[in-house]
Amino acid sequence: MNLAEDLRRAGQPELARLLETLPEDEAATLAAEVAAVDLDLLADLVDRLVRTDRPEMAGEVSPADPSDFVRIAQNDEERERDRAAKVLGERMLRDGRVAAVLLAGGQGSRLGFDGPKGAFPFAPITGRTLFWHHCATIAALRERHRAPLPLYILTSPTNDQETRDFFAANDHFGLEPQSVRFVVQGTLPAVDATTGALLRESPGHLALSPDGHGGLLTALRRTGTLDEMAAAGIDTMFTFQVDNPLVRTCRPEFLGHHEMAGAQMSSVVVRKVGPEERMGVIARLDGRPGVVEYSDLPDELAALRDDEGELVYWAGSIAVHCIDRRFAERLTQDGVHLPHHRALKVVPYIDADGRPVDPAEPNAVKFETFLFDALAHADRTVAVEAAREEEFAPIKNATGSDSPESARRALNNLYATWIEAAGMEAPRDEHGEPVDIEIDPRLALDPDELAGALMEGRTISGPTVLGPPG
Ligand code: UD1
Repeated sequence: MNLAEDLRRAGQPELARLLETLPEDEAATLAAEVAAVDLDLLADLVDRLVRTDRPEMAGEVSPADPSDFVRIAQNDEERERDRAAKVLGERMLRDGRVAAVLLAGGQGSRLGFDGPKGAFPFAPITGRTLFWHHCATIAALRERHRAPLPLYILTSPTNDQETRDFFAANDHFGLEPQSVRFVVQGTLPAVDATTGALLRESPGHLALSPDGHGGLLTALRRTGTLDEMAAAGIDTMFTFQVDNPLVRTCRPEFLGHHEMAGAQMSSVVVRKVGPEERMGVIARLDGRPGVVEYSDLPDELAALRDDEGELVYWAGSIAVHCIDRRFAERLTQDGVHLPHHRALKVVPYIDADGRPVDPAEPNAVKFETFLFDALAHADRTVAVEAAREEEFAPIKNATGSDSPESARRALNNLYATWIEAAGMEAPRDEHGEPVDIEIDPRLALDPDELAGALMEGRTISGPTVLGPPG
C-alpha cells in the first residue's frame, strides 16, 4: 500500500508530495498520522462540507410535538408525576444503575483560558474550579443515595494528560481515584476552508482536533467502557458538559422521567431567552425528535412565533442527556454513523514552503459529530423541561453572555433564593443584587437540603462560603 498514492486518490496531492520530499523524520511522523486518518471519509467530508455552497441539514426541520416534552409541572397532577419520577430516579441511583459522564474533551477556545476548561476557577470567593464543583457534586450524590455512581470524563488527545495531571495534583477532589475514569475521544484533521487540503500544525504533524462529543460513543466502545459498565450493572449514563456550574447532575426527577418514558436517550431543555441565543433546539428532523444545532437553524425558523407570541423553537438543549447503555451498544456495534458537521475556525498552520502562518480570520474547517444526533436513532426519547435559573449558566465566553460573570450572577441569584427559602435573609449589595455566596454541593444540592443543613438563628451578612462541617 502506498500512502502517497492513497492521498492523491483522496484529493490530497499536496500532502502526498510533502511525504515524498520532507526530511525523513518529519515524513515519518506525518505518515503515521495520515495512516490513522480514514481517507475515504475525509474525501467524502471535503466533498460534502467544504467544496460546496449548500448548507448541510440533517433533515427536514419541523416543530417538536407537545408529546415530545415533559413540561415544568403546573398543577397537582403534574407535581405528583414529578414526585414519582424523583422516587424512581433515586432508586436508580441507589441500585447502582447510573454512571455520570462528563464531556470535557473540547478546546474551550472561546473562553481564552489556557488549559482544560474544567480547571477554570469560576468560584468568586474560593477560586474553586469547574472540576472541583462537578466532583464535589458526585461525592454528595454518592453519599446521599449510597450510590457507587462512577464518574467517566471524556477527554481528547489535546487535553487528556493535562486533565489527568490536574486530577492527580488535586487528589481527585476527594473521590476514590479508581472511581474516576478518563476516556479519550478521537481526532479528525482540519482542512483548508477553500481548497480542502489537509493542514499541518508543524512540519511533521497534521493539524488534528477533537472529533466532537459524538466521539464519546466510539470512545466508550473502543476503550471497553461499555463492557465495564455492563459488568457493573450500569444501564443508564447521565451525560453533561463541563462548562455549566449550575447543572443538576443526575437529578433524580430527570433520571426517573427517562425511565418512565422507556426512553433510550433523553434531554433537558430550558426556554430560550430569545431567537438569537446560541443553543441547539428540540425539533423534529424528518419527523423524528432531535436537536437542531443553532448554527444549522435558519434565522427565520429561530424567530418564528406562535399565536401567543411564544417562540415555536423555544426548547433550548442544555446538552444534558440520559443515554441507555444498551442503546449505546447497539449504536456502536458496526461503527457509529453520526453525521459530521462543519465548523469554520482559525487554525494556525505550516504552508507548503514550511513557513508558519497565523491567520487572523477563520481559515479552516474542522469536522465534528454531535452526541445529540444519536437521538435520531432512538425509538423513544423525551425532553424534560427545567427552569433555566435552576440548571443552566454555562461559561463559554470571556465576557458578556455565557461568561464567568453571568454564571456568577446566576449562582448568586439561585443561592439567594435557597437562603430565603430556608427562612433567612439573603445579603444584597447597595443595588439589591445578591452578594457572592458559594454553597459546597456536599452541604446542599438543593434548597431543601440547605434548609435542613443551616442552623436555626444563623445569619449571613456578606459574601460567604457555606460548606459541610469539618
Ligand atoms: C453546546 C451545544 C448546544 C447547546 C449548548 C448548551 C454542541 C455542538 N452544541 O454548544 O446545542 O445548546 O452547548 O450550553 O454541543 N466537547 C467534547 N469534545 C469535543 C467537542 C466538545 O468533549 O470534541 C465538549 C466540551 O468540552 C464542552 C461541550 O462538549 O463541555 C460543548 O462543546 P461546544 O463545542 O463548546 O458547544 P457549544 O457551542 O457550547
